[in-house]
Amino acid sequence: MSRETSARDRVIVALDLPDVEAAEKTIWSLGDSINFYKIGYELVMAGGLSLAEDLAHGGKKVFLDMKLHDIGNTVMQATRRAAKLGAAFLTVHAFPQTMRAAVEGRGDSDLEILAVTVLTSWDDDDLKDAGYATTVPELVARRAAQAEAIGIDGLVCSPAEAKDLRQRLGGKMLLVTPGIRPAGSAKGDQKRVMTPKEAVLAGVDYMVIGRPIVAAEDPKRAAEAIVEEIENAKK
Ligand code: C5P
Repeated sequence: MSRETSARDRVIVALDLPDVEAAEKTIWSLGDSINFYKIGYELVMAGGLSLAEDLAHGGKKVFLDMKLHDIGNTVMQATRRAAKLGAAFLTVHAFPQTMRAAVEGRGDSDLEILAVTVLTSWDDDDLKDAGYATTVPELVARRAAQAEAIGIDGLVCSPAEAKDLRQRLGGKMLLVTPGIRPAGSAKGDQKRVMTPKEAVLAGVDYMVIGRPIVAAEDPKRAAEAIVEEIENAKK
């Protein structure tokens, strides 16, 4: 853990929902139990950016999962807009030029830039196909080191990578991890999962959790149980 944050603030709920109305319903039902929300492609295409702005103005933290990657000027300007909108986290792909542009666009705002090293849907064959003569672990390590040198604030990583990255990077960079499942909950399409407690022990700072909370019969109770598990893992 590279930063002192309350257990509650370490849970980011992924609003993987088709429209703003469904997202607002979830946010309303979670109330004060959750302070941090992730908005990705699906919701952004359905009015999610104004929801992001409303959430930020209403005192919630917003993770804009845009995985930006374009020419430097475009990334820089888009990052600047995300900072103005009040986002707390923004993702970019971990290409050096893209990361440098995002750091420039973030300037001295409170926005923190997270780099996605290698998408977890990629394996060594996909890299080869795309023209890379390297393996996934090698490329993750290379890009993590580049991200740190460029001044990126944190990395999005799989639970399986968290421990190694924490040892490699020390305490400075934030590690943000999806694929979290409380013991006994459905894995869905996630193949390698960790419980919230295991994630804390692996050095994860923030956990992105979708279905175990959003699709629960009682989302608020599910969120509270996860917060409690994180709280207890620290003791
Ligand atoms: O519902 P679930 O908890 O599996 O949601 C996880 C969230 O994290 C989703 O928004 C998903 O897009 C995101 N994510 C992921 N695996 C990655 C990167 C992002 O599950 N490697």
